[in-house]
Amino acid sequence: MEEKKLRSQEWFGRKGKDGFIYRAWMKNQGFPHHLFEGRPVIGICNTYSELTPCNAHFRELAEALKRGIWEAGGFPLEFPVMSLGECSIKPTAMLFRNLASMDVEESIRANPMDGVVLMCGCDKTTPSLVMGAASVNLPTIVVSGGPMLAGRFKGRKIGTSDLWRFAEEFKKGELSQEDFTAAEAAMARSQGHCAPMGTASTMAAMVESLGLSLPDNATIPAADSRRKVLAHMSGIRIVEMVKEDLKMSDILTRKSIENAIMVNAALGGSTNFILHLLAIAGRMGIELSIDDFDKHSTHIPLIANVQPSGENFVEDLFYAGGLPAVMKEISSLLHLDTVTANGKKLGENVLNAECWDRNLIGTLEKPFKPESGIAVLKGNLCPEGAVLKPSAATPSLLQHRGQAVVFEDIDDYKKRLDDPDLDVTPDSVMVLKNVGPRGYPGMPEVGNMQLPMKIIQQGVKDMVRISDGRMSGTGYGTVVLHVSPESAIGGNLALVQNGDWIQLDVPNRTLNLEVSDEELAKRRASFQPLQLGYDRGYVNMFIQNVTQAHEGVDFDFLKGASGPVVKRDSH
Ligand code: FES
Repeated sequence: MEEKKLRSQEWFGRKGKDGFIYRAWMKNQGFPHHLFEGRPVIGICNTYSELTPCNAHFRELAEALKRGIWEAGGFPLEFPVMSLGECSIKPTAMLFRNLASMDVEESIRANPMDGVVLMCGCDKTTPSLVMGAASVNLPTIVVSGGPMLAGRFKGRKIGTSDLWRFAEEFKKGELSQEDFTAAEAAMARSQGHCAPMGTASTMAAMVESLGLSLPDNATIPAADSRRKVLAHMSGIRIVEMVKEDLKMSDILTRKSIENAIMVNAALGGSTNFILHLLAIAGRMGIELSIDDFDKHSTHIPLIANVQPSGENFVEDLFYAGGLPAVMKEISSLLHLDTVTANGKKLGENVLNAECWDRNLIGTLEKPFKPESGIAVLKGNLCPEGAVLKPSAATPSLLQHRGQAVVFEDIDDYKKRLDDPDLDVTPDSVMVLKNVGPRGYPGMPEVGNMQLPMKIIQQGVKDMVRISDGRMSGTGYGTVVLHVSPESAIGGNLALVQNGDWIQLDVPNRTLNLEVSDEELAKRRASFQPLQLGYDRGYVNMFIQNVTQAHEGVDFDFLKGASGPVVKRDSH
């Protein structure tokens, strides 16, 4: 087979003035001339940032990667891209996912590289990098930062999901300020991203089940030396992938996407998975609809006993056999012939995997919960869809009829939640408007609203809650999310009034507002679209171009891919 000319040689292989320019400034880093003579150039797309603490160990991890790339005869060149730290970025990291993906796409295409390693960790850093790289379609491998070690507090293991419990206990006066502060330091006690199967680990599992990383990428703890070994081996592998011309589009296919949906169900993964995978598929030009998530996951039970759907942490899942062992349990349902980053078929990667602990990894016959995937609801309250995670919900609330208690926006919710006069009972349905893609803007993780104080004081732990926002991957409750179309653009959610009856029926996948069409039309006549007050800059561009939740919240103009070719050449 004739060897394909390296893309980087369009820069470094040139003769005369142009080649001089492309090489000379690179040489100020001390690179000898022979490195420019036909070695595969591997870009290391690094989301290291001290403002993204989940990715703060990435400089060290990049060194392990580089060792692998050098060993395989490649030439590693590391570059920074926008890094999104979930906890610090205001108003919400999701507002900037598309911006970061544009940074990644343009940085890869514009520069001399033959292959890319995506260094991902905290929630949005994975989808933004995968979306951007998919739009260019070079040989690409993902190295995740790995989960944190589980926290330890007062003799027990803790993780991000405990934050909601601590907050409720603190609110009720059951946890002192001193203990609340001590819990802070005890929870995030090591490098890495959140310890449960939150969005970050859901995303790491997504890339592994898609085949975009080496096996075990999703679960090796960040602090475990084997994480560096995985980075080293990924460095070796990406050089081989360039030689084999194994591109992202060879791995990211409709079949691998269906695998990822099934694996996410088996893990009880985050609802955010839907938005990000829809956006990734859109970049690759692969047909995928919100209904596919229900269709390909309803028959999958909960196989992994990991928080928030189960009891343990991602670290424990690694010790029990990791994702390959989980995939083996549902292998009869997966497409085993999909290609993965190590050059093997998915089946070859998982069929010999072993489970070391049945308290962590169940079987199809003996799962931890019978229903796991993500339920997609339809009805007059969400004609384009809404989602709910049954494994995180209260079974007795999955069929529920209650009267709406409406919060017009997040400020209204904060102001009135604990008002003793709030007309709410445990049977009410809490409705939060204007937290969707355009309405907030950026679709924040506020959908799992705290319960009103007067309800908490009755010992009630869960109520039906509905919004056009998102929920943290570590959140739980009977929470309907991603209502589409959103209220800010006139979806029926905008028309709900206090006291309206709402019917949720998860087994039958419906969500309906019991208000007549005539009455809805009357209310619609006086609906005023939200005035957001952003008239310039990125946020204005976001509001103008963002798609709805059922389409992945990507920009309409980013669908489809542009590929790796640079159309103009100024030298
Ligand atoms: Fe970064 Fe949870 S805050 S993964």
